[in-house]
Amino acid sequence: MSIFKDAGHLFRFAALFVIAFLVFLVVRHYVVPKSFGKYGHYRAAAMDEIAAHPMKFAGHQACEQCHSDVAATHASGMHAHVNCEACHGPLEKHAEDPSSVTPKLPDTATLCVRCHEASAARPKNFPQVKSAEHSGGMPCQTCHNPHSPAIGSGAAAGGAK
Ligand code: HEC
Ligand code: HEC
Ligand code: HEC
Ligand code: HEC
Repeated sequence: MSIFKDAGHLFRFAALFVIAFLVFLVVRHYVVPKSFGKYGHYRAAAMDEIAAHPMKFAGHQACEQCHSDVAATHASGMHAHVNCEACHGPLEKHAEDPSSVTPKLPDTATLCVRCHEASAARPKNFPQVKSAEHSGGMPCQTCHNPHSPAIGSGAAAGGAK
């Protein structure tokens, strides 16, 4: 005599549950990557994979070591907090081997307006111009030194110094 009239159902149900759980464990074993959860809720191996990507940016410290003249001008101007590679693009290859990779100089016709073209979307106190009216069609560096752009900051016309 069992306690319940139809206890068999319960045992079959419980057995199903156990089987489903075992299947889950087996599937999980094959599906979840080995390094998952080592440090947290992610694949630990992902960190090594990302670290193995080739470097593209050298960082401004690298540039400054070799281009100390530009670095000095840059540090004293309004662009002090705009890093070298924000304008020059990623230059790790050049920094590694300057003689074999010579960077192209940025085209100011497209570079400067990226940050300075007048737009209602920019903060009101951010310096911005309607470039066509403002420059009279001349390249920005005719009047502004890209590395220290404020007019009257010493070095303008004649290109960057
Ligand atoms: C190891 C020293 C070294 C490092 C680091 C370095 N450069 Fe240079 N760079 C040079 C040399 C040398 C030249 C001249 C190469 C030539 O004329 O072929 C040069 C040329 C350039 C030029 C072209 C100049 C021209 O007149 O055409 C630019 C722009 C430049 N570097 C920017 C950078 C930036 C930005 C960085 C940082 C990401 C950087 N460099 C890191 C040594 C270095
Ligand atoms: C706001 C944008 C901007 C930033 C920031 C910037 N540059 Fe430049 N740089 C330019 C432009 C534009 C030219 C080309 C000017 C020209 O064609 O007359 C240039 C030219 C150069 C040149 C070659 C001509 C020269 O002046 O000797 C070097 C080298 C250089 N940059 C290095 C650097 C380094 C190093 C940094 C960071 C310390 C840096 N730049 C930051 C825009 C920038
Ligand atoms: C990546 C964005 C960026 C690029 C590209 C850039 N600038 Fe700037 N510029 C700035 C920032 C940030 C400031 C500082 C704004 C401040 O401090 O209020 C600044 C300041 C200036 C100023 C000073 C305005 C003043 O009040 O005196 C001038 C002029 C200027 N930039 C011209 C240029 C020119 C010319 C170029 C192209 C060679 C250029 N900028 C490229 C971000 C940029
Ligand atoms: C013919 C010379 C000349 C040329 C070319 C020129 N500028 Fe200027 N720019 C000036 C002078 C002068 C000032 C400072 C007086 C003023 O605030 O209007 C100035 C000021 C600025 C300012 C600061 C505006 C502010 O509200 O503080 C920015 C940003 C600027 N220029 C960006 C540019 C850009 C981007 C280019 C290229 C598309 C360019 N300029 C080309 C002469 C020039």
